Amino acid sequence: MERPAEPDMPREAPALGPPLISARELSKVYRVGEQDLVALDRITLEIAAGDFVAIMGPSGSGKSTVMNLIGALDVPTSGQLLFDGRDIGALSVDELAELRNRSIGFVFQQFNLLARTSALEQVMLPLLYAHPRPADSEAMARRRLEQVGLGNRMDHTPRQLSGGQQQRVAIARALVNNPKLILADEPTGALDTRTSEEIMQVFRDLNREGITIVVVTHEPEIALWAGRRVTFRDGHIVDDIRQTPYTGAAPLEGGVPPPVTP
Ligand SMILES: Nc1ncnc2c1ncn2[C@@H]1O[C@H](COP(=O)(O)OP(=O)(O)OP(=O)(O)O)[C@@H](O)[C@H]1O
Ligand SMILES: [Mg+2]
Repeated sequence: MERPAEPDMPREAPALGPPLISARELSKVYRVGEQDLVALDRITLEIAAGDFVAIMGPSGSGKSTVMNLIGALDVPTSGQLLFDGRDIGALSVDELAELRNRSIGFVFQQFNLLARTSALEQVMLPLLYAHPRPADSEAMARRRLEQVGLGNRMDHTPRQLSGGQQQRVAIARALVNNPKLILADEPTGALDTRTSEEIMQVFRDLNREGITIVVVTHEPEIALWAGRRVTFRDGHIVDDIRQTPYTGAAPLEGGVPPPVTP
């Protein structure tokens, strides 16, 4: 695997800080024809700075809905949502866009890369919208690509990259604005088991640097990497547990393959 050794990388998850996300009685109701569809039903959820959270639950249980609200991609029907102490409901459209651009990185199942654009340009793209635009955009993008192990793939377009490498480009793109929070909705859903493990190692390392990570997944093996597992059902939180995260340090019994890097 191409990821460079990082001797200074912290070996432990960070201590938890004050709440980064604080949702109170948060609801999302979609109007479909004559019907109201309650996608999220008065959930209350706090996520501390530095946490690594896996969100689980059956299809249609509200996982993507809650991610879209936390990421300020959508607005709640009712309830309160604080991001880093700021009431998202009180922000203007411009302030919401700035919050998204500056503080939150998004990663999706289907990578969402531009077909004919090099890895380096993809990662530089979010900086085009930054105000003020950093003078060293290219160096910032290079550093993030190196961080995810793609220092030798900067000029490759998506079809010249494997699925796991494409997802790492997407992660580098999510990182380039130095976000506090990464929201990843089924980031390994399109990847095989071994590649999924590599992607989770990247998230683990980012979390150790202090970035808060929220990952939606259907796969129990993926949820094991998190320090907390929150389960949704029918728009409610039905379970919320802390766990000792799997760190990739040793093979797990029951089928998770050994780590690719020590
Ligand atoms: N834009 C929309 N308009 C109407 N209903 C919606 C909309 N988006 C989601 N829903 C409904 O809200 C509910 C929750 O959807 P959501 O996408 O959050 O589920 P999910 O847990 O992410 O499921 P999956 O695991 O399949 O991705 C579902 O019943 C869905 O049909
Ligand atoms: Mg979903």
